[in-house]
Amino acid sequence: MQKLIVQGGTRLRGKVTISGSKNSSLPILAATLLTKDECIIRQVPDLSDTNYMLQILRELGAEVERASGTMHIKAEKIVSDTPYDLVRKMRASICVMGPLTGRLRKAVVSMPGGCVIGDRPVDLHLKGLEYLGAKVQMDGGNIHIEATEPLKGTTMNLTGKFGSTVLGTDNVLMAAVLTKGTTIIEGAAAEPEVEDLANFLIKMGAKIEGAGTTRIVVEGVEELHGAEHTVIPDRIEAGTFLVAGAICGDGVMVRRVDPAHLKTTTDTLLACGYDIAISGDTVTVMPGSGDPKGFHFTTRPYPGFPTDMQAQFCALACTLQGQLSTARETIFPQRFMHVPELKRMGASIEMEGDTARITGVPQLSGAPVMASDLRASAALVLAALNAKGTTEVHRLYHIDRGYEHLDEKLATLGAVLQRAKE
Ligand code: EPU
Repeated sequence: MQKLIVQGGTRLRGKVTISGSKNSSLPILAATLLTKDECIIRQVPDLSDTNYMLQILRELGAEVERASGTMHIKAEKIVSDTPYDLVRKMRASICVMGPLTGRLRKAVVSMPGGCVIGDRPVDLHLKGLEYLGAKVQMDGGNIHIEATEPLKGTTMNLTGKFGSTVLGTDNVLMAAVLTKGTTIIEGAAAEPEVEDLANFLIKMGAKIEGAGTTRIVVEGVEELHGAEHTVIPDRIEAGTFLVAGAICGDGVMVRRVDPAHLKTTTDTLLACGYDIAISGDTVTVMPGSGDPKGFHFTTRPYPGFPTDMQAQFCALACTLQGQLSTARETIFPQRFMHVPELKRMGASIEMEGDTARITGVPQLSGAPVMASDLRASAALVLAALNAKGTTEVHRLYHIDRGYEHLDEKLATLGAVLQRAKE
Protein backbone atom coordinates (compact mmCIF):
# COMPACT_ATOMS: atom_id res chain seq x y z
CA MET A 1 0.00 0.00 0.00
CA GLN A 2 1.06 3.56 -0.62
CA LYS A 3 0.52 6.89 1.09
CA LEU A 4 0.89 10.45 -0.13
CA ILE A 5 3.02 12.88 1.85
CA VAL A 6 1.95 16.46 1.20
CA GLN A 7 3.86 19.55 2.37
CA GLY A 8 1.28 22.27 2.81
CA GLY A 9 1.72 25.95 2.12
CA THR A 10 2.89 26.22 -1.49
CA ARG A 11 0.91 28.22 -4.04
CA LEU A 12 -0.25 26.49 -7.23
CA ARG A 13 0.10 28.06 -10.64
CA GLY A 14 0.05 26.80 -14.22
CA LYS A 15 -1.84 24.54 -16.60
CA VAL A 16 -3.02 21.00 -16.29
CA THR A 17 -4.48 18.79 -19.00
CA ILE A 18 -7.56 16.85 -17.98
CA SER A 19 -7.86 13.12 -18.70
CA GLY A 20 -10.79 11.27 -20.27
CA SER A 21 -13.76 10.73 -17.99
CA LYS A 22 -13.66 7.67 -15.73
CA ASN A 23 -17.45 7.54 -15.46
CA SER A 24 -17.85 7.70 -19.24
CA SER A 25 -15.10 5.19 -19.95
CA LEU A 26 -16.53 2.43 -17.76
CA PRO A 27 -19.94 2.04 -19.48
CA ILE A 28 -18.43 2.77 -22.91
CA LEU A 29 -15.91 -0.06 -22.45
CA ALA A 30 -18.80 -2.31 -21.36
CA ALA A 31 -20.78 -1.29 -24.45
CA THR A 32 -18.13 -2.82 -26.73
CA LEU A 33 -19.67 -6.17 -25.68
CA LEU A 34 -22.68 -5.29 -27.86
CA THR A 35 -20.90 -6.05 -31.14
CA LYS A 36 -18.69 -8.76 -32.64
CA ASP A 37 -16.68 -6.09 -34.47
CA GLU A 38 -13.65 -4.23 -33.24
CA CYS A 39 -14.19 -0.95 -31.38
CA ILE A 40 -11.55 1.70 -30.76
CA ILE A 41 -11.93 3.86 -27.67
CA ARG A 42 -9.61 6.81 -27.13
CA GLN A 43 -8.75 8.90 -24.06
CA VAL A 44 -9.45 6.08 -21.61
CA PRO A 45 -7.69 7.12 -18.39
CA ASP A 46 -5.14 4.76 -16.87
CA LEU A 47 -6.86 4.01 -13.56
CA SER A 48 -7.37 0.91 -11.50
CA ASP A 49 -11.15 1.09 -12.23
CA THR A 50 -10.67 1.15 -16.02
CA ASN A 51 -8.09 -1.63 -15.70
CA TYR A 52 -10.58 -3.80 -13.80
CA MET A 53 -13.15 -3.19 -16.52
CA LEU A 54 -10.68 -4.27 -19.21
CA GLN A 55 -9.90 -7.42 -17.22
CA ILE A 56 -13.62 -8.19 -16.95
CA LEU A 57 -14.01 -7.79 -20.72
CA ARG A 58 -11.08 -10.20 -21.25
CA GLU A 59 -12.62 -12.74 -18.86
CA LEU A 60 -15.89 -12.49 -20.79
CA GLY A 61 -13.98 -13.42 -23.98
CA ALA A 62 -13.09 -10.08 -25.56
CA GLU A 63 -9.67 -9.40 -27.10
CA VAL A 64 -8.29 -6.23 -25.61
CA GLU A 65 -5.24 -4.32 -26.78
CA ARG A 66 -4.17 -1.11 -25.14
CA ALA A 67 -1.72 1.45 -26.46
CA SER A 68 -1.52 4.23 -23.87
CA GLY A 69 -5.03 5.74 -23.73
CA THR A 70 -6.38 3.96 -26.81
CA MET A 71 -8.20 0.64 -26.43
CA HIS A 72 -8.85 -1.81 -29.26
CA ILE A 73 -11.57 -4.23 -28.17
CA LYS A 74 -13.07 -7.08 -30.13
CA ALA A 75 -15.80 -9.06 -28.40
CA GLU A 76 -16.40 -11.64 -31.11
CA LYS A 77 -17.34 -14.54 -28.84
CA ILE A 78 -18.40 -13.79 -25.30
CA VAL A 79 -19.84 -15.61 -22.32
CA SER A 80 -22.53 -14.40 -19.93
CA ASP A 81 -20.97 -15.07 -16.51
CA THR A 82 -18.84 -12.35 -14.97
CA PRO A 83 -16.00 -13.35 -12.63
CA TYR A 84 -16.86 -12.62 -8.99
CA ASP A 85 -13.27 -11.86 -7.98
CA LEU A 86 -13.08 -8.96 -10.40
CA VAL A 87 -16.64 -7.74 -10.06
CA ARG A 88 -16.37 -7.39 -6.29
CA LYS A 89 -13.43 -4.99 -6.72
CA MET A 90 -15.43 -2.38 -8.57
CA ARG A 91 -19.08 -1.53 -8.22
CA ALA A 92 -19.29 -0.09 -11.74
CA SER A 93 -18.71 -3.58 -13.18
CA ILE A 94 -22.49 -3.89 -12.80
CA CYS A 95 -22.69 -2.05 -16.14
CA VAL A 96 -21.80 -5.18 -18.11
CA MET A 97 -25.29 -6.43 -17.16
CA GLY A 98 -27.09 -4.31 -19.78
CA PRO A 99 -24.91 -5.22 -22.78
CA LEU A 100 -24.82 -8.93 -21.87
CA THR A 101 -28.62 -8.95 -21.58
CA GLY A 102 -28.97 -7.07 -24.86
CA ARG A 103 -26.63 -9.29 -26.84
CA LEU A 104 -26.96 -12.74 -25.20
CA ARG A 105 -30.31 -12.38 -23.43
CA LYS A 106 -28.46 -13.77 -20.43
CA ALA A 107 -26.20 -12.32 -17.75
CA VAL A 108 -24.84 -13.49 -14.43
CA VAL A 109 -23.31 -10.72 -12.34
CA SER A 110 -22.37 -10.66 -8.66
CA MET A 111 -24.65 -8.53 -6.54
CA PRO A 112 -22.52 -5.49 -5.61
CA GLY A 113 -22.12 -5.02 -1.87
CA GLY A 114 -22.66 -1.78 0.02
CA CYS A 115 -19.90 0.74 -0.27
CA VAL A 116 -18.43 3.49 1.85
CA ILE A 117 -20.62 6.19 0.33
CA GLY A 118 -23.85 4.38 1.22
CA ASP A 119 -26.14 1.44 0.59
CA ARG A 120 -26.11 1.69 -3.27
CA PRO A 121 -28.89 -0.69 -4.35
CA VAL A 122 -29.40 -1.84 -7.98
CA ASP A 123 -33.20 -2.27 -7.85
CA LEU A 124 -33.76 0.33 -10.59
CA HIS A 125 -31.30 -1.40 -12.97
CA LEU A 126 -33.18 -4.67 -12.47
CA LYS A 127 -36.62 -3.06 -12.73
CA GLY A 128 -35.60 -1.53 -16.07
CA LEU A 129 -34.39 -4.86 -17.48
CA GLU A 130 -37.58 -6.55 -16.23
CA TYR A 131 -39.64 -3.93 -18.06
CA LEU A 132 -37.91 -5.07 -21.26
CA GLY A 133 -39.03 -8.65 -20.53
CA ALA A 134 -35.99 -10.17 -18.78
CA LYS A 135 -36.48 -12.41 -15.73
CA VAL A 136 -34.34 -11.60 -12.72
CA GLN A 137 -33.42 -14.06 -9.96
CA MET A 138 -31.02 -13.83 -7.05
CA ASP A 139 -29.03 -16.88 -6.10
CA GLY A 140 -25.85 -17.34 -4.06
CA GLY A 141 -25.03 -13.63 -4.15
CA ASN A 142 -25.41 -13.51 -7.92
CA ILE A 143 -27.97 -11.76 -10.09
CA HIS A 144 -29.18 -14.08 -12.87
CA ILE A 145 -30.88 -12.37 -15.78
CA GLU A 146 -32.44 -14.32 -18.56
CA ALA A 147 -34.97 -13.74 -21.32
CA THR A 148 -36.43 -16.78 -23.03
CA GLU A 149 -38.28 -14.59 -25.55
CA PRO A 150 -36.70 -11.67 -27.41
CA LEU A 151 -36.79 -8.49 -25.32
CA LYS A 152 -39.51 -5.95 -26.20
CA GLY A 153 -39.43 -2.16 -26.05
CA THR A 154 -41.75 -0.41 -23.60
CA THR A 155 -42.17 2.81 -21.62
CA MET A 156 -40.70 2.93 -18.13
CA ASN A 157 -39.84 5.41 -15.42
CA LEU A 158 -36.45 4.95 -13.75
CA THR A 159 -36.80 7.60 -11.04
CA GLY A 160 -35.98 6.28 -7.57
CA LYS A 161 -36.17 7.61 -4.04
CA PHE A 162 -32.95 9.61 -4.59
CA GLY A 163 -33.70 10.72 -8.13
CA SER A 164 -32.35 9.30 -11.38
CA THR A 165 -29.70 6.59 -11.64
CA VAL A 166 -26.65 7.04 -13.87
CA LEU A 167 -25.44 3.45 -14.26
CA GLY A 168 -29.06 2.19 -14.14
CA THR A 169 -29.91 4.40 -17.13
CA ASP A 170 -26.71 3.17 -18.86
CA ASN A 171 -27.63 -0.46 -18.30
CA VAL A 172 -31.18 -0.13 -19.61
CA LEU A 173 -29.98 1.93 -22.57
CA MET A 174 -27.40 -0.72 -23.50
CA ALA A 175 -30.01 -3.48 -23.33
CA ALA A 176 -32.65 -1.44 -25.17
CA VAL A 177 -30.54 -0.70 -28.27
CA LEU A 178 -30.85 -4.34 -29.38
CA THR A 179 -34.46 -4.71 -28.20
CA LYS A 180 -37.34 -4.95 -30.68
CA GLY A 181 -39.59 -1.87 -30.79
CA THR A 182 -39.42 1.45 -29.00
CA THR A 183 -38.17 1.89 -25.45
CA ILE A 184 -38.90 5.15 -23.67
CA ILE A 185 -36.92 5.81 -20.49
CA GLU A 186 -38.62 8.51 -18.42
CA GLY A 187 -36.73 9.84 -15.40
CA ALA A 188 -33.44 9.01 -17.15
CA ALA A 189 -30.16 10.37 -15.80
CA ALA A 190 -29.15 13.42 -17.86
CA GLU A 191 -25.45 13.34 -16.91
CA PRO A 192 -22.95 14.10 -19.73
CA GLU A 193 -21.50 10.60 -19.22
CA VAL A 194 -24.85 9.04 -20.20
CA GLU A 195 -24.95 11.25 -23.28
CA ASP A 196 -21.38 10.22 -24.15
CA LEU A 197 -22.34 6.54 -23.92
CA ALA A 198 -25.38 7.22 -26.15
CA ASN A 199 -23.16 9.00 -28.69
CA PHE A 200 -20.89 5.95 -28.84
CA LEU A 201 -23.90 3.63 -29.23
CA ILE A 202 -25.23 5.83 -32.06
CA LYS A 203 -21.85 5.49 -33.82
CA MET A 204 -22.31 1.71 -33.48
CA GLY A 205 -25.64 1.97 -35.32
CA ALA A 206 -28.08 2.44 -32.41
CA LYS A 207 -31.10 4.72 -32.78
CA ILE A 208 -31.33 6.94 -29.71
CA GLU A 209 -32.89 10.34 -29.13
CA GLY A 210 -32.95 12.54 -26.04
CA ALA A 211 -29.75 11.35 -24.33
CA GLY A 212 -28.57 14.14 -22.03
CA THR A 213 -32.19 14.81 -21.02
CA THR A 214 -34.50 12.97 -18.62
CA ARG A 215 -36.44 11.29 -21.47
CA ILE A 216 -34.55 8.94 -23.76
CA VAL A 217 -36.20 7.23 -26.72
CA VAL A 218 -34.58 4.13 -28.23
CA GLU A 219 -35.65 2.44 -31.44
CA GLY A 220 -34.26 -1.09 -31.27
CA VAL A 221 -32.04 -2.37 -34.12
CA GLU A 222 -31.07 -5.95 -35.04
CA GLU A 223 -27.33 -5.53 -34.81
CA LEU A 224 -24.62 -3.04 -33.90
CA HIS A 225 -21.27 -2.66 -35.64
CA GLY A 226 -17.78 -1.55 -34.59
CA ALA A 227 -17.07 2.14 -34.01
CA GLU A 228 -14.41 4.58 -32.86
CA HIS A 229 -14.99 7.02 -30.05
CA THR A 230 -13.11 9.57 -27.94
CA VAL A 231 -14.25 9.75 -24.33
CA ILE A 232 -15.29 13.21 -23.03
CA PRO A 233 -13.03 15.05 -20.55
CA ASP A 234 -13.48 14.20 -16.89
CA ARG A 235 -15.56 17.03 -15.42
CA ILE A 236 -14.93 15.85 -11.85
CA GLU A 237 -11.15 15.72 -12.29
CA ALA A 238 -11.34 19.22 -13.83
CA GLY A 239 -13.54 20.45 -10.98
CA THR A 240 -11.12 19.02 -8.43
CA PHE A 241 -8.20 20.99 -9.95
CA LEU A 242 -10.30 24.16 -10.08
CA VAL A 243 -11.10 23.81 -6.38
CA ALA A 244 -7.39 23.19 -5.70
CA GLY A 245 -6.69 26.42 -7.60
CA ALA A 246 -9.27 28.25 -5.47
CA ILE A 247 -7.84 26.89 -2.22
CA CYS A 248 -4.22 27.80 -2.86
CA GLY A 249 -3.67 28.97 -6.43
CA ASP A 250 -2.51 32.10 -8.21
CA GLY A 251 -4.01 31.13 -11.57
CA VAL A 252 -4.70 27.45 -12.34
CA MET A 253 -5.91 26.55 -15.81
CA VAL A 254 -7.58 23.25 -16.71
CA ARG A 255 -7.17 22.34 -20.39
CA ARG A 256 -9.18 19.97 -22.61
CA VAL A 257 -12.46 20.44 -20.72
CA ASP A 258 -16.04 21.14 -21.72
CA PRO A 259 -16.81 24.35 -19.76
CA ALA A 260 -20.57 23.67 -20.02
CA HIS A 261 -20.09 20.48 -17.97
CA LEU A 262 -18.35 22.54 -15.27
CA LYS A 263 -21.03 25.20 -14.90
CA THR A 264 -22.15 24.41 -11.34
CA THR A 265 -18.51 24.27 -10.21
CA THR A 266 -17.56 27.56 -11.87
CA ASP A 267 -20.82 29.24 -10.75
CA THR A 268 -20.15 28.22 -7.15
CA LEU A 269 -16.56 29.50 -7.32
CA LEU A 270 -17.77 32.79 -8.83
CA ALA A 271 -20.42 33.18 -6.10
CA CYS A 272 -17.65 32.60 -3.61
CA GLY A 273 -15.66 35.51 -5.04
CA TYR A 274 -13.03 33.82 -7.24
CA ASP A 275 -12.42 34.98 -10.79
CA ILE A 276 -13.10 32.51 -13.57
CA ALA A 277 -11.93 32.86 -17.18
CA ILE A 278 -13.33 30.57 -19.85
CA SER A 279 -11.76 30.35 -23.29
CA GLY A 280 -12.36 27.53 -25.78
CA ASP A 281 -11.75 24.27 -23.97
CA THR A 282 -9.97 25.87 -21.00
CA VAL A 283 -11.13 27.26 -17.66
CA THR A 284 -8.90 29.27 -15.31
CA VAL A 285 -9.53 30.06 -11.67
CA MET A 286 -7.83 33.03 -10.02
CA PRO A 287 -8.11 34.79 -6.68
CA GLY A 288 -10.83 37.48 -6.71
CA SER A 289 -10.38 41.08 -5.56
CA GLY A 290 -11.93 40.64 -2.09
CA ASP A 291 -11.90 37.90 0.53
CA PRO A 292 -13.80 34.81 -0.62
CA LYS A 293 -17.26 34.30 0.90
CA GLY A 294 -18.95 31.20 2.27
CA PHE A 295 -21.30 29.28 -0.04
CA HIS A 296 -24.30 26.98 0.20
CA PHE A 297 -25.20 24.07 -2.05
CA THR A 298 -27.36 20.98 -2.29
CA THR A 299 -26.25 18.05 -4.42
CA ARG A 300 -28.66 17.15 -7.25
CA PRO A 301 -28.57 15.10 -10.44
CA TYR A 302 -27.08 16.89 -13.47
CA PRO A 303 -27.29 19.79 -14.25
CA GLY A 304 -27.45 20.31 -10.47
CA PHE A 305 -24.47 20.39 -8.11
CA PRO A 306 -22.61 17.05 -8.50
CA THR A 307 -22.31 14.78 -5.49
CA ASP A 308 -18.84 13.91 -6.83
CA MET A 309 -17.71 17.51 -6.09
CA GLN A 310 -19.25 17.78 -2.61
CA ALA A 311 -16.18 16.65 -0.64
CA GLN A 312 -13.77 18.91 -2.53
CA PHE A 313 -15.98 21.96 -1.89
CA CYS A 314 -16.15 20.97 1.80
CA ALA A 315 -12.33 21.17 1.83
CA LEU A 316 -12.51 24.64 0.28
CA ALA A 317 -15.12 25.75 2.85
CA CYS A 318 -12.75 24.73 5.67
CA THR A 319 -10.21 27.29 4.43
CA LEU A 320 -12.53 30.34 4.22
CA GLN A 321 -11.66 31.97 7.51
CA GLY A 322 -14.69 33.00 9.58
CA GLN A 323 -17.13 32.22 6.75
CA LEU A 324 -20.04 29.80 7.15
CA SER A 325 -20.76 27.40 4.29
CA THR A 326 -23.31 24.59 4.08
CA ALA A 327 -23.12 21.41 2.01
CA ARG A 328 -26.31 19.35 1.77
CA GLU A 329 -26.03 15.88 0.25
CA THR A 330 -29.28 14.47 -1.16
CA ILE A 331 -27.91 11.79 -3.50
CA PHE A 332 -25.78 9.80 -1.06
CA PRO A 333 -26.87 11.31 2.30
CA GLN A 334 -24.12 9.45 4.17
CA ARG A 335 -21.29 10.56 1.88
CA PHE A 336 -19.37 12.52 4.52
CA MET A 337 -16.42 10.27 5.40
CA HIS A 338 -14.09 13.18 4.75
CA VAL A 339 -15.63 15.14 7.65
CA PRO A 340 -13.95 13.34 10.59
CA GLU A 341 -10.63 13.38 8.72
CA LEU A 342 -10.90 17.11 7.93
CA LYS A 343 -11.65 17.67 11.62
CA ARG A 344 -8.37 15.91 12.44
CA MET A 345 -6.73 18.67 10.42
CA GLY A 346 -8.42 21.33 12.56
CA ALA A 347 -11.59 21.96 10.51
CA SER A 348 -14.72 23.22 12.22
CA ILE A 349 -17.65 21.17 10.90
CA GLU A 350 -21.00 20.29 12.45
CA MET A 351 -23.22 17.66 10.92
CA GLU A 352 -26.99 18.16 10.96
CA GLY A 353 -28.54 15.15 9.23
CA ASP A 354 -27.59 15.32 5.55
CA THR A 355 -25.98 18.76 5.89
CA ALA A 356 -22.46 19.79 6.87
CA ARG A 357 -22.19 23.27 8.42
CA ILE A 358 -18.61 24.38 7.94
CA THR A 359 -16.96 27.44 9.46
CA GLY A 360 -13.63 28.32 7.89
CA VAL A 361 -10.65 28.33 10.26
CA PRO A 362 -7.55 30.58 10.15
CA GLN A 363 -5.27 27.64 9.30
CA LEU A 364 -5.67 23.87 8.84
CA SER A 365 -2.83 21.81 10.20
CA GLY A 366 -1.14 18.77 8.71
CA ALA A 367 -2.04 15.39 10.23
CA PRO A 368 -2.07 11.71 9.30
CA VAL A 369 -5.46 11.08 7.63
CA MET A 370 -7.18 8.10 6.06
CA ALA A 371 -8.53 8.14 2.51
CA SER A 372 -11.94 6.46 2.30
CA ASP A 373 -13.83 6.88 -0.97
CA LEU A 374 -12.34 8.43 -4.06
CA ARG A 375 -13.70 11.98 -3.78
CA ALA A 376 -13.28 12.13 0.01
CA SER A 377 -9.62 11.26 -0.55
CA ALA A 378 -9.20 14.00 -3.13
CA ALA A 379 -10.70 16.46 -0.63
CA LEU A 380 -8.06 15.47 1.94
CA VAL A 381 -5.28 16.13 -0.57
CA LEU A 382 -6.74 19.56 -1.34
CA ALA A 383 -7.00 20.41 2.35
CA ALA A 384 -3.42 19.18 2.85
CA LEU A 385 -2.13 21.59 0.20
CA ASN A 386 -3.40 24.45 2.34
CA ALA A 387 -2.49 23.07 5.76
CA LYS A 388 0.46 24.11 7.89
CA GLY A 389 3.05 21.34 7.93
CA THR A 390 2.95 17.82 6.56
CA THR A 391 -0.09 15.65 5.93
CA GLU A 392 0.12 11.93 5.24
CA VAL A 393 -2.86 10.63 3.26
CA HIS A 394 -3.02 6.88 3.82
CA ARG A 395 -4.69 4.30 1.55
CA LEU A 396 -3.78 6.09 -1.64
CA TYR A 397 -5.31 3.32 -3.76
CA HIS A 398 -8.68 5.08 -3.40
CA ILE A 399 -7.31 8.02 -5.38
CA ASP A 400 -5.68 5.79 -8.00
CA ARG A 401 -9.13 4.31 -8.70
CA GLY A 402 -10.30 7.55 -10.23
CA TYR A 403 -7.61 10.21 -10.73
CA GLU A 404 -4.96 9.69 -13.40
CA HIS A 405 -1.59 10.72 -11.92
CA LEU A 406 -3.15 13.24 -9.48
CA ASP A 407 0.13 13.68 -7.60
CA GLU A 408 2.20 14.23 -10.77
CA LYS A 409 -0.29 16.74 -12.14
CA LEU A 410 -0.37 18.66 -8.84
CA ALA A 411 3.43 18.64 -8.78
CA THR A 412 3.54 20.34 -12.21
CA LEU A 413 1.45 23.13 -10.65
CA GLY A 414 4.01 23.54 -7.88
CA ALA A 415 2.65 21.28 -5.13
CA VAL A 416 5.24 19.56 -2.97
CA LEU A 417 4.18 15.97 -2.47
CA GLN A 418 5.48 12.45 -2.84
CA ARG A 419 4.33 8.84 -2.71
CA ALA A 420 5.82 6.50 -0.16
CA LYS A 421 5.27 2.95 1.01
CA GLU A 422 2.93 2.59 4.01
N1 EPU B 1 -30.16 4.18 -6.52
C1 EPU B 1 -31.22 3.40 -6.16
N2 EPU B 1 -31.46 2.26 -6.87
C2 EPU B 1 -30.69 1.90 -7.94
C3 EPU B 1 -29.62 2.69 -8.30
C4 EPU B 1 -29.35 3.86 -7.58
O1 EPU B 1 -31.94 3.70 -5.20
O2 EPU B 1 -30.99 0.86 -8.55
C5 EPU B 1 -29.87 5.41 -5.76
C6 EPU B 1 -28.46 5.43 -5.17
O3 EPU B 1 -28.39 4.74 -3.95
C7 EPU B 1 -28.22 6.92 -5.04
C8 EPU B 1 -28.93 7.50 -6.27
O4 EPU B 1 -29.88 6.49 -6.67
O5 EPU B 1 -28.86 7.40 -3.88
C9 EPU B 1 -28.02 7.83 -7.44
O6 EPU B 1 -27.17 6.72 -7.72
P1 EPU B 1 -26.66 6.36 -9.18
O7 EPU B 1 -27.25 5.06 -9.59
O8 EPU B 1 -26.89 7.53 -10.09
O9 EPU B 1 -25.11 6.14 -8.94
P2 EPU B 1 -24.19 5.22 -9.82
O10 EPU B 1 -24.69 5.20 -11.20
O11 EPU B 1 -23.96 3.93 -9.13
C10 EPU B 1 -22.59 7.07 -10.71
C11 EPU B 1 -21.13 7.40 -10.59
C12 EPU B 1 -20.83 7.90 -9.18
C13 EPU B 1 -21.71 9.14 -8.91
C14 EPU B 1 -23.18 8.78 -9.11
C15 EPU B 1 -24.12 9.97 -8.97
C16 EPU B 1 -20.08 5.87 -12.13
C17 EPU B 1 -19.17 4.72 -12.32
N3 EPU B 1 -20.33 6.22 -10.87
O12 EPU B 1 -22.82 6.03 -9.76
O13 EPU B 1 -19.47 8.30 -9.18
O14 EPU B 1 -21.51 9.59 -7.60
O15 EPU B 1 -23.37 8.22 -10.42
O16 EPU B 1 -23.78 10.96 -9.88
O17 EPU B 1 -20.54 6.47 -13.08
C18 EPU B 1 -17.34 8.67 -8.30
O18 EPU B 1 -16.93 8.83 -9.46
O19 EPU B 1 -16.65 8.95 -7.29
C19 EPU B 1 -18.68 8.14 -8.09
C20 EPU B 1 -19.08 7.59 -6.94
